[in-house]
Amino acid sequence: MRQLIAGNWKMNGTSAALGEIEAVCEMVTARPPACDVLICPPATLIARAAAQAKGRIAIGGQDCHAQVSGAFTGDISAEMLKDAGASAVIVGHSERRQYHGETDAMVMAKAQAAWRAGLMAIICIGETEAQRVAGHALHICSGQIDNSVPDGLTASNTAIAYEPVWAIGTGRTPTSQEIAEVHDHIRTCLTKRFGKGEGAATRILYGGSMKPSNAAEILAISNVGGGLIGGASLKAQDFGAIFNASSANP
Ligand code: PGA
Repeated sequence: MRQLIAGNWKMNGTSAALGEIEAVCEMVTARPPACDVLICPPATLIARAAAQAKGRIAIGGQDCHAQVSGAFTGDISAEMLKDAGASAVIVGHSERRQYHGETDAMVMAKAQAAWRAGLMAIICIGETEAQRVAGHALHICSGQIDNSVPDGLTASNTAIAYEPVWAIGTGRTPTSQEIAEVHDHIRTCLTKRFGKGEGAATRILYGGSMKPSNAAEILAISNVGGGLIGGASLKAQDFGAIFNASSANP
């Protein structure tokens, strides 16, 4: 399984940022990386980003509603993302869980919506600092997997993103041992529930203050199947340095 390097632009980027998409596409064309490359721009840019990328990289959404359509002002369905040119969608990001009150059950419904629309779901999990300090990191992650990953996961319809909340946007990262411990635990949970085929092949991304200077070390950790990158995905040069650090690590 190739690693997946996914950029999460969050609420950043207007038309001018399409130049970064083009720059990333040119880097990928000039020197094909060992991984799959995905950028999730704000919803307003998805259609133009997909048109710009022309399949050189994948484009995704950052969230979706669970329903196909209806009276949900401001929301966007997975089908709409697909129609706009997305092939993936992030669901259950900690910022959605925190600022929009998304529960595990809602995240599960969104992941099912993603599959229904033919999108890959990137399902985010991860402990807060207080939970880690209390020694509950592994327990929190397995609980989130149990309750926000639907039955029906396959290695191609889903990636799990382990994002310790305290590492997001803070410049702090867990040690390699800490990342390995959680990723190994997630692998065990996936294999137990989804079997040695799909459960073992599903990519487990690390996210939280990943940048050019730590990417190679993180991407070489066992059971790290790629990265979900926020701040460092906004500039093509930084993002490129990260996807070029990808190896054939499963
Ligand atoms: P960061 O964000 O790379 O800026 O820490 C990661 C994320 O929230 O996906």
